[in-house]
Amino acid sequence: MLIIAFSVLFAAQCVHASLPNFVLLFADDLGYGDLGCFGHPSSLTPNLDTLAANGLRFTDFYVTSPVCSPSRAALLTGRYQTRSGIYPGVLYPGSKGGLPLNETTIAEVLKAQGYATAIVGKWHLGVGYNRTFLPTRQGFEHYLGIPYSHDQGPCQNLSCFPPDVKCFGRCDPGVVTVPLFLNEKILQQPADFLKLESKYSQFASRFITESVQRNKPFFLYYPSHHTHYPQYAGADYAGRSRRGPFGDALMEFDGTVGKILKTLEETGVINNTLIFFTADNGRVPELMRQSRGGNAGLMKCGKGTTYEGGMREPAIAFWPGFIKPGVTHALTSSLDILPTFAKLAGARLPDVPLDGVDMTSVLFKLGASKRQTMFFYPIDPHEKYGVYAVRWEKFKAHYYTQGASHSESTPDHSCSALAFRTHHDPPLLFNLEADPSENYNLDGAEWDDVRGQIQALKQQFEASMEFGESQIAKGSDASLEPCCTPDCTPKPQCCRCGSVM
Ligand SMILES: *[C@@H]1O[C@H](CO)[C@@H](O)[C@H](O)[C@H]1NC(C)=O
Ligand SMILES: *[C@@H]1O[C@H](CO)[C@@H](O)[C@H](O)[C@H]1NC(C)=O
Ligand SMILES: *[C@@H]1O[C@H](CO)[C@@H](O)[C@H](O)[C@H]1NC(C)=O
Ligand SMILES: *[C@@H]1O[C@H](CO)[C@@H](O)[C@H](O)[C@H]1NC(C)=O
Repeated sequence: MLIIAFSVLFAAQCVHASLPNFVLLFADDLGYGDLGCFGHPSSLTPNLDTLAANGLRFTDFYVTSPVCSPSRAALLTGRYQTRSGIYPGVLYPGSKGGLPLNETTIAEVLKAQGYATAIVGKWHLGVGYNRTFLPTRQGFEHYLGIPYSHDQGPCQNLSCFPPDVKCFGRCDPGVVTVPLFLNEKILQQPADFLKLESKYSQFASRFITESVQRNKPFFLYYPSHHTHYPQYAGADYAGRSRRGPFGDALMEFDGTVGKILKTLEETGVINNTLIFFTADNGRVPELMRQSRGGNAGLMKCGKGTTYEGGMREPAIAFWPGFIKPGVTHALTSSLDILPTFAKLAGARLPDVPLDGVDMTSVLFKLGASKRQTMFFYPIDPHEKYGVYAVRWEKFKAHYYTQGASHSESTPDHSCSALAFRTHHDPPLLFNLEADPSENYNLDGAEWDDVRGQIQALKQQFEASMEFGESQIAKGSDASLEPCCTPDCTPKPQCCRCGSVM
């Protein structure tokens, strides 16, 4: 009798309870080798390590671009950035363009299913005229954060360093100091970096708690500023890691992950929440930032390049009771998150050419991926050159290679900005399972079949690719830089608001 009553009650609750919540954690400029659970010897990432130990760790997870804005566009739309026009390079504080409003984001897909949606942290998909491109216009009901990179302002005015720590580099002097937005209003300018992370975790916890109280499934997107340059960490973390400023920043991010986990437990929804972690692009130490940059581990080069160090990222999926602890080598991508969340939420996919595939077979059955290929565009994609590299099964072919200033200081000359675009015909070919560091080109005739297969897949993909109008080529206008006192003079110095220290 009691059992029947319970199951009826449970069934009734299940109508709502069955829609899972989603927490998407996205680190910034964090390489394949940066986390404790991905082998870094001195990083302290206990919370991410816990997610990895009790969840699924991905070894072959890719992003679509070795820089911020395009990678974020692809993550949120399930489409290569070439389609949405988020290329070449990244958006600036005064950019006229942004992620086109007719692109459908994960937030829009889930909101249509009754989800509460929020973003906390770094948007980097545009501000624009009249704040047209803020996340509040793309399906996010709540926003607290900085809408671009925190070095896109004068570094010397970031209150982010303990006073005795020297700032490496100058960031972008001459533009407004970095603003902190609450929805579409500037709360503080410049943002107080030492207190930022605690504001973020409070905001995230409040959003989760309120959604649970309202009996709403929720989607929380937390694209962190950590561990992008310049590194900072609040009082609870500064000086506490073994790895210097980078380690402190990473540890502060990890601390927020821990606070989110605690809130999910306290509100009783941890077993009904899929947490997914990855990062926007890889990183290696570079000359200007030295050990303040990330680490791509055994992968070649880093940010700005289409070698593995720029494109392959650590990833973790965690959902107690649903995802078995383990490691997957399935070929997967940030493109696949939108279709996966949509599938789990029973949501309709946007009626556009999608590049992502649903990866539930990988998550729940440790099965094969539906994904067969991954195509790699450089920071400045152009139809004339097409994709620079293709991953197919365990192989990767490079049609073009190019170094980048962001990967400058490694001893490997092919990473350097002086390694200009080089065409390879036949393409360089690596077996990434035997040679993940892309050291040994397979140049014998016995590999012709593999090259032929890859060439056919590349042609098929490129025939299906329609480049959207470049949003970044629309340029910048200083009057669009966010200013909390829009009519003040002289700009940009006069834009100052909120409790600054
Ligand atoms: C958005 O609008 C632009 C301009 O009209 C168009 O070229 C593009 O295909 C549209 N994108 C989508 C996803 O509908
Ligand atoms: C911005 O808003 C103002 C006031 O509503 C309007 O006059 C102007 O045309 C808008 N600008 C753009 C580019 O939409
Ligand atoms: C989640 O599930 C685990 C294992 O079944 C259980 O021990 C734990 O109490 C559950 N947590 C919550 C908050 O329901
Ligand atoms: C940065 O700080 C310096 C020293 O306090 C000040 O003179 C300068 O005006 C500030 N610049 C901006 C852009 O706020």
